[in-house]
Amino acid sequence: MTAVSLLGICGSTRKASLNRALLVAIGEVLPEGTVLSLYDGLEGLPIFNSDLQDPPTVLALKAAISKVDGVIVSVPEYNYSIPGGLKNALDWISRPPASSPMRGKPVGICGAATGMSGTIRAQNHLRQMFVYSDSPVLAQPEVLIPRAQERFVDGKLVDESTRQLLARFAMAFVTHVRRYKLV
Ligand code: FNR
Repeated sequence: MTAVSLLGICGSTRKASLNRALLVAIGEVLPEGTVLSLYDGLEGLPIFNSDLQDPPTVLALKAAISKVDGVIVSVPEYNYSIPGGLKNALDWISRPPASSPMRGKPVGICGAATGMSGTIRAQNHLRQMFVYSDSPVLAQPEVLIPRAQERFVDGKLVDESTRQLLARFAMAFVTHVRRYKLV
């Protein structure tokens, strides 16, 4: 079987981000033959302005998305929605719509929060945003991680039931990506 390449986009720019730790943990349970690289550049993107040509940081993000088979977004919940920095990146990479690297790109969504909701509201908003780029988003299993500070210690996953959920998600997402890769 051919290899599958994935890009993980963390919606948090915080050094000790739980959502970054979540992506790292998913990287550890991916099926053989799958490579996940992490994108950490949200802070380097200027605020979207359609008067501007794509700056180098945007070109780099678009290129990174173009060359992978699928994208996993780990989304923190800020004020019941997605963080502004992540929305800004999605706005940049959605333009121009016809040549957006997100067009038809398979997407997986996951999220970790310190509260009880596990990012459900942010994930629902994020899922809706990918309708515009016709990006097929994996439906199940949902990766909603509540009280994430109890499951990750110093950036490492310490909870076995969460690890099992991530392994199921990883398998389902790679199957999802392969479905579109064959077309
Ligand atoms: C939060 N947090 C939060 N949590 C939640 O479950 N629902 C929410 O609406 C919010 N709102 C919110 C707004 C802002 C501005 C901040 C800074 C935080 C808490 C959030 O889940 C927590 O800070 C996570 O640790 C953020 O993810 P990272 O940075 O650890 O990946």
